[in-house]
Amino acid sequence: MPERQRILTGDTPTGNLHIGHWVGSVKRRVELQAKHDCFFLIANLHAYTTRADRPADIHADCIEVTRDALAMGVDPSKAAIFLQSETPALSELTYLFAMLLPFNRVMRNPTLKDELQIKGLADNYSFGFPLYTVGQTADILAFRAHSVPVGEDQVPHLELTREVARRFNKMYCGVPDKAPDEEHEQLGGVFPVPVADVGDVGRLIGTDGVNKMSKSLGNAIHLTDTPKQVKKKIGKIYTGQDSRQPNDPGIVDPEKNPLFQYLNVFVECEATKVDIRDRYERGDNIGDGEVKMLVADAINALLDPMRERRTGYEDDAVVLDILREGTARANLATEQTLQMVKDAAGTGFFSRTLHFT
Ligand code: TRP
Repeated sequence: MPERQRILTGDTPTGNLHIGHWVGSVKRRVELQAKHDCFFLIANLHAYTTRADRPADIHADCIEVTRDALAMGVDPSKAAIFLQSETPALSELTYLFAMLLPFNRVMRNPTLKDELQIKGLADNYSFGFPLYTVGQTADILAFRAHSVPVGEDQVPHLELTREVARRFNKMYCGVPDKAPDEEHEQLGGVFPVPVADVGDVGRLIGTDGVNKMSKSLGNAIHLTDTPKQVKKKIGKIYTGQDSRQPNDPGIVDPEKNPLFQYLNVFVECEATKVDIRDRYERGDNIGDGEVKMLVADAINALLDPMRERRTGYEDDAVVLDILREGTARANLATEQTLQMVKDAAGTGFFSRTLHFT
């Protein structure tokens, strides 16, 4: 068993990161990398579920998202950032795991159903679309990860993953039928039954004040935005009341006034926050502009060291080297699992070593 717990998580590459990503996942990863063996997957094959006709975009997005993750503080000497398409064990395990899952079980996944509906795919989705959920079980199990930090929407995928782990361990490793999840490895199973680690941060509202922050909705503050752009975007946030004056009592409920979600999340000093909320609520000579200025300054203070770090990764070749090195580490881990799987499941005959140049 690995000495340190292994953590695996990943994202579909969609281009530049924004402060919603920071709040929702990257911040947590930066904390986790200090104490655990972390593997961060760039799910570029997964991106082909909806963008198979845009290979150049997906390719460029892989570099871009890596650059931003590095700028935000993911440390390549601690965590491995790696490409799904260059980690062949993931695809090989997908094939095998697809045999362990009833087709109807895969199609019952509520996150999958939601996506098909939201994307308006009705009966027009590729065979690979539902297959990506099986692929995600392989992404996780290939690392024999114990914990998977994800958002709430990914929990159904984790449930599927846990089912595959249990079934494999019982079918091929002699783990008894009623074995508790925590004992699978001890009882000879190849896979620990992994748990979803759902953070409490979740979703940051976009600058439109309505939808979750998202690049495609144009309501995001990107890491690549200049300090001036940040000020401008924050300046435009609707605060829940039309033409509020500095002496009008204001709404500080972050559900109703998105500016206060930003204040709560990005301004660090507790005393300042308490004071601002109190004065705003009473209408004690505090305009929206003053709060917006404070929030914009706080976001720029968060982004400044990231902007600075990002200048060290402007060269694509530097980012590619980091991906190559991370991918090599990912392959070391997943090839080992694959060998164990093949031995257990009867598909193993030879051994092999992969080499990346
Ligand atoms: N489904 C995830 C997303 O769209 C990306 C992903 C692929 C993933 N494989 C994973 C997340 C494994 C966690 C673990 O964001």
